Amino acid sequence: MRMVDVISKKRNGEALSKEEIDFVIKGYTNGDIPDYQMSALAMAIYFQDMTTEERVHLTMAMVESGDQIDLSDIEGIKVDKHSTGGVGDTTTLILAPLVAAVGVPVAKMSGRGLGHTGGTVDKLESIEGFKVELDSKTFNELVNKNKVAVVGQSGNLTPADKKLYGLRDVTATVNSIPLIASSIMSKKIASGADAIVLDVKTGSGAFMQELEDSRALAQAMVEIGNGAGRNTIAVISDMDQPLGFAIGNALEVKEAIDTLRGQGPADLHELCLTLGSQMVYLAGKADTIEAAREKLEHAMESGEAIEKFKTFIASQGGDASVIDDPSKLPTANYTFEVEAKEDGVIAAIVADEIGIAASILGAGRSTKDDVIDLAVGLVLNKKVGEQVTKGDSLVTIHSNREDVAEVIEKIYQSYTISKEVVETNQLVYDIIR
Ligand code: URA
Ligand code: CA
Repeated sequence: MRMVDVISKKRNGEALSKEEIDFVIKGYTNGDIPDYQMSALAMAIYFQDMTTEERVHLTMAMVESGDQIDLSDIEGIKVDKHSTGGVGDTTTLILAPLVAAVGVPVAKMSGRGLGHTGGTVDKLESIEGFKVELDSKTFNELVNKNKVAVVGQSGNLTPADKKLYGLRDVTATVNSIPLIASSIMSKKIASGADAIVLDVKTGSGAFMQELEDSRALAQAMVEIGNGAGRNTIAVISDMDQPLGFAIGNALEVKEAIDTLRGQGPADLHELCLTLGSQMVYLAGKADTIEAAREKLEHAMESGEAIEKFKTFIASQGGDASVIDDPSKLPTANYTFEVEAKEDGVIAAIVADEIGIAASILGAGRSTKDDVIDLAVGLVLNKKVGEQVTKGDSLVTIHSNREDVAEVIEKIYQSYTISKEVVETNQLVYDIIR
């Protein structure tokens, strides 16, 4: 087989066979196929698209390019949740103990990653003593015993995706539905999930800003998941404004604690129940989505959800007393209020700008070697649709620096205050299965 023939076949709009896709991914991973040929193929895929069958083959070829996590020693249907990313998305931190409290096994592998705030692992490490370095035997035992454990990323998962994503980044081929969908799904499948709930974000703070694009991506991922034998459901949710109130690491842990007690921000609470009920349903722990939701609401109200969080933290060496006393979490030296300059209704909060404001404070990393400040971040006091009077606090800044002029500037750029009636966005646009 010759790579040049595969490229010309795709360029002409024909579908590639499983053998051809395997040849490409194996050859590219081991270095036999050079970047320039792979770039040409990525561009041909960008313009000619791929059939569902090709997308499944591409995903599985990337899964098989590296290690695959074996969760077969863990009892039950392992359901993973994946978010396409956004600002202040605390859902993983909440959903892990929440669905575990109703018996769903959560075997979560989580990275640190780049972004406006840290990843789930960073957030959890704002709890004194919490460790994510677990060997696989301990990890499996913890999930069997407590139904929940989180381990840091290890092993060589989907090296083909790593290499191809890097290439796409510099060849203007990131924004291709078959390539994005196979990239995300290959990582989920390699991590050992039996079933997958996807939270596909849409709006100004999302990877896909238009609803129709988000829907197409969601559809593509659900088809790949189901085609690869993993029951998959996608929820399309709003990321036009940040989710919840808190954006920052320790601040989001505090917000997760409130939400597990049923006292979280309305949007975050609702999205966790929506995603969580799909997870419970896929894990076979409820016969209907409605029944699943009732179980989760009960776990919040009865205190089982917060108790599960305590058990989970303590089992991984963390100081679980922070859950009843969040003042033990890292706190910043200074707080500043950003005040409304006029009366009106909040018409928009551009999520991306808020995320940048949080990263200026040091809440996230822009390169792998950056050190995160777990204490800093933002708390939104007003969200879209709320009435404000001049002088009201829009946002509280938690900072370890006295000079926050640039952060304040970003926050003002993000907020729009209107004199007119404002229509708020839906939180959940669609559920695709
Ligand atoms: N996230 C991924 O993991 N892969 C993509 O291709 C795009 C976003
Ligand atoms: Ca949040």
